Amino acid sequence: MAKVKFLPSGFECEVKTGESILDIALANGVPIQHACGGFCACTTCHCEVVEGLSNLEAPDSDELERLSVLENRTQNSRLGCQSKVKGDVVIRVVNQE
Ligand code: FES
Repeated sequence: MAKVKFLPSGFECEVKTGESILDIALANGVPIQHACGGFCACTTCHCEVVEGLSNLEAPDSDELERLSVLENRTQNSRLGCQSKVKGDVVIRVVNQE
């Protein structure tokens, strides 16, 4: 199990490891954009990992390519739909609905 906290709402939940940040957010009513439906084909699910970056599975080359075009990316930027949790994280949703 892993604890996921979403900002700015402060909502927290416990989830099974291996779930994506997008799926966790949608299952719990946390506002997050997801224009392509979670297929790594947009960047609207952009999230900033505030704590626990190493507690997410590493990004693959497709995700890194998508992230590279984001003007507001940071070193801790991830795509919510591609980020599977393996430990506790604090996530700031960049694009809320
Ligand atoms: S929902 Fe489109 S890349 Fe994540």
